[in-house]
Order: sequence, then C-alpha cells, then structure tokens
Amino acid sequence: MTSNPSRKKVLVFRELPPDQLARLQAQHEVTVADPRVPEQLAAFHAALGTAEGMIGSSYPIDYALLTQAPRLKVISSVSVGVDNYTLPALAARGIMLCHTPGVLTETTADTIFSLIMATSRRLVELANHVREGRWTRNIGEELFGWDVHGKTLGILGFGRIGQAVARRAALGFGMPVLYYRRSPLDVARELPELLGKVTHTPLDELLARADIVAVVLPLSDETRGLMGVREFGLMKPGAIFINGARGAIVQESALLHALDHGTLRAAGLDVFAREPLPLDSPLRIHPKVTALPHIGSATFETRHAMAVLATSNLLSALAGKRPPAVFDFSTA
Ligand code: DGY
Repeated sequence: MTSNPSRKKVLVFRELPPDQLARLQAQHEVTVADPRVPEQLAAFHAALGTAEGMIGSSYPIDYALLTQAPRLKVISSVSVGVDNYTLPALAARGIMLCHTPGVLTETTADTIFSLIMATSRRLVELANHVREGRWTRNIGEELFGWDVHGKTLGILGFGRIGQAVARRAALGFGMPVLYYRRSPLDVARELPELLGKVTHTPLDELLARADIVAVVLPLSDETRGLMGVREFGLMKPGAIFINGARGAIVQESALLHALDHGTLRAAGLDVFAREPLPLDSPLRIHPKVTALPHIGSATFETRHAMAVLATSNLLSALAGKRPPAVFDFSTA
C-alpha cells in the first residue's frame, strides 16, 4: 500500500475538542500525546521523530526538544502568548509558529476586569463571610470595599487585550486610563472611542499615579521580572495590583514584600511564576490576594474559538497556504 503524501504526521500535545481533532484526522495522520501525562510521555517523544506539524499549548518547546523533531515545519499554539517557545530556536530552523490572537481578547479583558472588581470590592472575602455563616449582623467598615468607578487605571501593555480593558474602564466605569507601551498609540485613528480618555505614560509615572495597576504585557526578555521591589515601591499607597499576563513579569518575592510590608491594598493574580501554583506558595492563601488558576481565556466559547483558529492555522500551514494567524518573530 502506498502512503498518501498529502497526509502529514501531526502531533497533538494538548487535548483538542473532538470536532477540531476530527478536522485534523480527516486530512492527516494524528497522534495525540500530552507530555504532561506520564503515561503519554513516551508516545509524545516517539511522535516527535516524524511530526511535521504540532498543535497544543502550555508546554515548553526548546532547542533540546526540537532536535528530536527533525521534520517539524509548523507549531500551532492554542494560545496567544508564545513564551513557551524558544523563538530563536524556531527561527533558526525555519519552523513556522502560529497562535490565537483576537479570539480571546474580550474574554481575557473580562477576566482582568473581574479581578479589578473582586479585589476592590473584596468579593471573594465577603462571599466567604456569607458562606461560612459569619453574616450575623450588618457589616461594618472593617469589611467595606473601595470604589472602582472613577479610579485611575494604569495598564502595562496596550495591545488588543490592554485596549479591551481600557474600553471597559473608560467607557463603563468612568476611569481615566494611563497606559505604558514602547510607543504611543495613534488613539484618534486606532481607538477613536477612547480619544481623550487614555494617556501614554512612562512606567514610573504610571506606577506613581494609578490607583489600580494591571499588567497585560507579553512575557519577553524585556518584560521578565519587570515588576520588582523598586517598581512596587513606586506604586501609590493603597493601590491595587493585577496580573492577567504572565507570572514571570512579576518578581513574586517583591510582590509579597509589598503586600506584607508596603502599602499595597490587594493583588488580583490570574498567573504565577510556577503554574499550577505550588501548594506552599504564600500567594495561595495570602489574605490580600485573590488568586485564580490562569483562567484568562477559559470560557467554553473562547477556548473553542481558540481551538478552531489553531486547527485552521495548522491545516493551512500543512497545505502550503498562509495561515490566518502566523506569529511574527520580528515583533518579539
Ligand atoms: C494565552 O492564550 O496565552 C493564555 O494565557 C493561555 O495560555
């Protein structure tokens, strides 16, 4: 029997929804093997040897791993962030990287705004107050929250998600928005609804002026460890810190110091330096921290949309066509 050359070997390294797996299987020889599942690790390594395409997320792909994948042409990441991939290694091998921008923007902005609300109004703490039967009389000042509307929001990173957070803040909550990014946005042209409501601001000034600081930056050599002792020290007394991007942008020891010894009011964190968050991490049970298990894009609709886009990316690339969302190495 002769094999069909248009059917390529594809390695799925994180579970895909059945409809998207079926799309791949209809056209290619697919192996599903998740290296995080001990029983599947051997199959993952075996499949690397012949894979021309890979699709998945949340697993580091570096030089060493790529040497096991000599035929690899394309990786389709079911994520917008590409920090799990050693980009110079991919570029050196000419391996195309695709990702899922756009489809998760609004959901991730919703998550970040949820953390702003939860930390300011102490929602988790107060819900537990009721759940644990401690609501025996009207609450007093010791349980009051902090207004969100009208506060100044500082956004570190002003790409799609940062802009979606800014729209919620400025248009929904009347919040003046300061944003930090390499170069100012042409707001009149690219975000006219926010004209006069968002201001490009240097990092130190933003930290000193914002009541709430939200990190929405990609993780790169430039942003790794960006928030350290000095930066937390610059933040306004009583300010709130939110991270909906990547844990490694924050020096967690500096954040803990700011929570325990500084004047930070609270932190809302969807991401951590190590995930899942280790049980012994002080951030897990810190009274000033609202911690979420990296749920930025985790809704039924959005995770499915990400899988659809990632599958389309891979199918296009394997067919020699331009995929809808190729990661541009020059932007890293
Ligand atoms: C993303 O898409 O980058 C999300 O953070 C999930 O990893």
